[in-house]
Amino acid sequence: MRTPMIAGNWKLHKTLDEAVNLVGALKTKVKDVDNVEILVAPPFTAISMLATKLAGSNIKIGAQNCYFEPSGAFTGELSAPLLKDAGCDYVIVGHSERRQIFGESIEMINNKVKAVLEAGLSVILCIGETLEERESGEMYDILTAQVKEGLAGVTDMERVVIAYEPVWAIGTGKTASSEQAQEVHSFVRGLVQGLYTPEIAAATRILYGGSVKPGNVDELMAQSDVDGALVGGASLVAEDFARIVKFE
Ligand code: 13P
Repeated sequence: MRTPMIAGNWKLHKTLDEAVNLVGALKTKVKDVDNVEILVAPPFTAISMLATKLAGSNIKIGAQNCYFEPSGAFTGELSAPLLKDAGCDYVIVGHSERRQIFGESIEMINNKVKAVLEAGLSVILCIGETLEERESGEMYDILTAQVKEGLAGVTDMERVVIAYEPVWAIGTGKTASSEQAQEVHSFVRGLVQGLYTPEIAAATRILYGGSVKPGNVDELMAQSDVDGALVGGASLVAEDFARIVKFE
């Protein structure tokens, strides 16, 4: 009942030319895929150009961040309505790099989630523990707070995707084992059930992120509560990302 989703988070990579080349190659490679929702999240500068290039294709566009006010005197920021106008369907919110490098608080992340939904877009809410939090046994408390406070006041769960990205697995080449991923995904689904209903929990997609590659995607996707992947490094190479989209 949950359509798998494979999303590429390009982070701070790709000029316009490189972005156009990458989606050009990707489009051809995944054109026959109709059972997976495919998303690319390029840097802001490439969004409107890629929206033109991907019109009518099976690849959607997401942004990697947004501000929570729709407009106003907020120099340097972009809002959810502007991202929608540029051609986005999704916005990634609360990535650990935003939390750690840019100091985003849970409250700010919650405001962003609500702003994205308010604009009529879908949101990918990222959660995940650091290695220290995992080893000290705080992991489940941290994940609980990230889910509960991240979703505070949210009623429209149909447009919410959750991405579990253990911070220690991002860009490190260390993937959570498929058992570790399944254990956390099942826990997160239980949290959603507690906050909403069993039906909503069963319908909510939970993606795994953190060093997902062509070589480990199949095993991760075989877990019953892993509904897709949020891919960093491997989404920058058309062949690798296409292979991830075509997980077996
Ligand atoms: P990597 O796939 O490069 O580990 O990045 C994961 C990530 O942060 C996706 O949002």
